[in-house]
Amino acid sequence: MSEKVLQYHKPSLQGHLTIPGDKSVSHRSVMFGAIATGKTTVDGFLLGEDCLSTIDCFRKLGVKIDVDGTNVTIESAGMEAWQEPSEVLYTGNSGTTTRLMLGILAGSNVHSVMTGDASIGKRPMRRVIDPLRQMGAHITGRADGQYTPLAIQGSTLQAIDYQMPVASAQVKSAILLAGLRAQGTTVVRETEISRDHTERMLRQFGAQLTVEEGVISFEGGQTLLGTHVSVPGDISSAAFFLVAGAICQDSKVVLENVGINPTRDGVIEVLRNMGASMTVVPNEDNQFEPTATITIETSTLKGTIIEGDIIPRLIDEIPILALLATQAHGTTIIKDAEELKVKETDRITAVVDELQKLGARIEATKDGMVIEGPTPLQGASLKTYGDHRIGMMGAVAALITNGAVTLDDAECIAVSYPSFFEHVEAVKK
Ligand code: S3P
Repeated sequence: MSEKVLQYHKPSLQGHLTIPGDKSVSHRSVMFGAIATGKTTVDGFLLGEDCLSTIDCFRKLGVKIDVDGTNVTIESAGMEAWQEPSEVLYTGNSGTTTRLMLGILAGSNVHSVMTGDASIGKRPMRRVIDPLRQMGAHITGRADGQYTPLAIQGSTLQAIDYQMPVASAQVKSAILLAGLRAQGTTVVRETEISRDHTERMLRQFGAQLTVEEGVISFEGGQTLLGTHVSVPGDISSAAFFLVAGAICQDSKVVLENVGINPTRDGVIEVLRNMGASMTVVPNEDNQFEPTATITIETSTLKGTIIEGDIIPRLIDEIPILALLATQAHGTTIIKDAEELKVKETDRITAVVDELQKLGARIEATKDGMVIEGPTPLQGASLKTYGDHRIGMMGAVAALITNGAVTLDDAECIAVSYPSFFEHVEAVKK
């Protein structure tokens, strides 16, 4: 953990950036490639620490994975060929690795033990383990499976019909991945739609499934076949530069290759509602995950309300949207976002405490926050809580503060955006 002092003197931002691969899609490309029979090739893979944890777990299961820059090749003879790991599967900081692996390993032929870092050790796992146990999974762990370390004895599973209690793509995906190996038809019912990368990738690897009005159903026992996956750029990473471009003076930034999957694009809708000067030009190249070139310019912004079913479409963008709101005219209210409390850290407390240190007018509520703007921000020493998105929120704030911002741990940003500071340098004038 090393301190980083950011003294930027209010630059303008100009230029083009190609946004690195989507974290959610990168994880799933390796998982699906390991489950499938044959060879899977991936381009645009995110070399973030979280995705490298996923690769490491599958290598410990005996799956052959080659990484050559952002190209990844996975060769597998299917799940039956996996070896029982002799070492603990270490998932680092990654909730997606931990939760999706639970669903995958529950229906495998192997026994495994999984653990992660201190943040993972505090994140709730029963939301995944409860439905998996209903399917017949044998999983034990600390506090009856609520926390890592977790032990999974692979077994035969039965399909379930599951009503999602929270909007969570990790929970949904764990059930769907377990459902691949279950006997019968797995049904998952969502009240609020969460990101659908797993459903798209199931189809991409040859599975048949139906999705109608929030109800996903498919037959267990389907075999997946290796294929090619083109990973779109991560809109959650792009969000930091969308906000930076909007709040820095005299700026115009062009972001290429941004994933605009409609279950992820809430940040675009909010920027539009707030009056941002932005254009979104869709590309026609990616068959399974749509992408676009987004241009953002310095903007005069107004406050907004962010609530209800848009929340799952921008859940990871709330820290940076809170910073954006400090520069908008009027009040911004963010509600229905209790899920923020169980992310890499409690993101309601972290965002409010750290933005207050910069002089922002922001208060926490039970399920979100209320922000008044515009407020000039001052430099301060900020904590990241080891959370990459809190770190990047602080770093983007440093572009507009009077005085330096010090981050206690900027290394955590490598979890999702290892080239973040290089990209800041590339566009900073
Ligand atoms: C993710 C789902 C979301 C998101 C996380 C990645 C995924 O979590 O916050 O960063 O890849 O499925 P939840 O499922 O807990 O909402």
